[in-house]
Amino acid sequence: MIFSKKMTSLSSAIFSELNYKKAELMAQGYEMIDFSIGTPDIPPSPQVMTLLQEECSKLSNYKYAINDTPELLEAVTSWYKHRYDVNISSQEVVSLLGSQSGFAELALCLIDPGDTVLVPVPSYPIFRIGPLLAGAQLHKMPLLKENNFLIDLDAIDEEVARKAKLMIVSYPNNPTTAIAPRDFYIKLVAFAKKYDIIVLHDNAYSELLFDGSVGESFLSIKGAKDIGIEFNSLSKTYSIPGCRIAFAIGNQEIIKGLRILKSHVDYGMFLPFQKVATALLTGSQDYVEVVRHTYYERGKVLVEGLREIGWDIPLPQGSMFVWAPIPKHYTSSLDFTYDLMNKAHVMVVPGISFGEEGEGFVRIALVETEDTIRRAIKAIKKSGLLEK
Ligand SMILES: Cc1ncc(COP(=O)(O)O)c(C=O)c1O
Repeated sequence: MIFSKKMTSLSSAIFSELNYKKAELMAQGYEMIDFSIGTPDIPPSPQVMTLLQEECSKLSNYKYAINDTPELLEAVTSWYKHRYDVNISSQEVVSLLGSQSGFAELALCLIDPGDTVLVPVPSYPIFRIGPLLAGAQLHKMPLLKENNFLIDLDAIDEEVARKAKLMIVSYPNNPTTAIAPRDFYIKLVAFAKKYDIIVLHDNAYSELLFDGSVGESFLSIKGAKDIGIEFNSLSKTYSIPGCRIAFAIGNQEIIKGLRILKSHVDYGMFLPFQKVATALLTGSQDYVEVVRHTYYERGKVLVEGLREIGWDIPLPQGSMFVWAPIPKHYTSSLDFTYDLMNKAHVMVVPGISFGEEGEGFVRIALVETEDTIRRAIKAIKKSGLLEK
């Protein structure tokens, strides 16, 4: 079978090798503690499940949705107003079946083969895969520890900036957990205007901040809507990743293009999911705090526990991850990951799998309970891996 050349961008040798190794160890009877996947284990609020059951029992909800309901669009626009103080109209919103698919759709909308796309590295794989599926040339923007993992706009070559059509930005950031100050976004909008670059800001973790600050929207920056859009997802905020509910919000022309593309590719979001999203965005936000607090406490237990056994790692600023520098006597994140699997039966993601610039780190997803995290810390201590 001969697949398209684009399919080569989808091969992830590291992930399949790690999963193969996990299966092998489990077959030998080891119980693996898995911090590798970014899938929330926190259940959704009971109200979500009750509403979904009710809506799923209505026959009228089984037709093609085609469009977003006016109630859903109104819920998103009013959430943006009261949550971020951002004014948007219903023409500036379209739902996505998860922001993940939004990346591929947006790239198909905007990118011709050979167009330059600026992507941060290390980064969530779809940031690179989406543009690559549309035939983009990627130009990497390294996120460096010494720069608080912020994109260094001044370091982007002038010629590259002139050529670039799209730039992808995302804070709070996966995998580095960094957050970006407002000044950064002000500079970003000016940069994008100067070089005529469209900005896609992925705001999947704006509700999951751990340092006491309150997440913002890129669209709250003056002029942002002229040059870009934001993706916002309910997956992590309300712990409902399987429902595939997200939105693209911002520049009306781009949103219109996305709507046209989506009308040929999908027929809209299942109506019970639209009802759930409407209820979540317009109802009490108390459960969001439960989700945030759960990740915050787990992050603290993990980081403090690992520090006590000699692994000095920083507390995450936001998201649902810990971005941990590998112990000094290791030079490869993959070697360290394998050693953790083999000797401590703990699974993490090697930084290298987020791009070469992620080397020297591993990502630990906070998807296990505090008790399991404590067990993992004991197992890591017992393995002796942190000692030279
Ligand atoms: C940065 C980032 N954006 C988007 C997503 C995916 O969101 P969705 O479930 O809406 O596709 C994730 C999920 O892990 C993520 O880490």
